[in-house]
Amino acid sequence: MMQNYRVFLEEILISSEELQKRIAELGEEISRDYQGLNLHLVCILRGGVLFLADLMRNIDLPHTIDFMAVSSYGSGARQSTGQVRITLDLKEDIRDRDVLLVEDIVDSGYTIASVLEMLATRHPHSLKVCTLLDKKNRREVEVPIHYRGFTIPNKFVFGYGLDLDEYYRNLSFIGTVNPDKYQPQE
Ligand code: IMP
Ligand code: MG
Repeated sequence: MMQNYRVFLEEILISSEELQKRIAELGEEISRDYQGLNLHLVCILRGGVLFLADLMRNIDLPHTIDFMAVSSYGSGARQSTGQVRITLDLKEDIRDRDVLLVEDIVDSGYTIASVLEMLATRHPHSLKVCTLLDKKNRREVEVPIHYRGFTIPNKFVFGYGLDLDEYYRNLSFIGTVNPDKYQPQE
């Protein structure tokens, strides 16, 4: 059985209210910037789903959505190249669309860098990045971030789409983990 998150929650780093307030601002900004364009939100599964769902409700423009999933090469440990592969590809062609990638968190930057490289070959009209969280100090490869919810310290976070060993994505806030209290499943 997984533990109740209250056992190992160190602190609520970003509350539900703070998340919603900032996401409303991002939605407004995106609505302004994409007027007259063919906005297509591409959510990177699975961490980005809660963010996508709230963000799109704050975008006051007709737009479409699609999903993709990627994983690092090898099991677990990331190779030095940082290449990722697509495990679930987009349903639709992105040619001539104004693609906005919706990510939960940019950490080393390898995921977004690879996704940008792969999608750029499909000739979108534009290709930009919107991430809820930015762990700036962890960056290993430079990536453009056009919309950023919050810059956060170098700590493992969970909740609001982000998982801790695949659980706890449902929480409406972003929390940090007390490693002394968290017991990973065998
Ligand atoms: P990057 O390729 O190192 O930028 O990794 C980004 C991915 O790592 C995110 O999409 C998350 O799935 C995962 N990740 C990075 N930091 C955290 C964290 O603190 N909590 C949960 N997932 C994280
Ligand atoms: Mg993710």
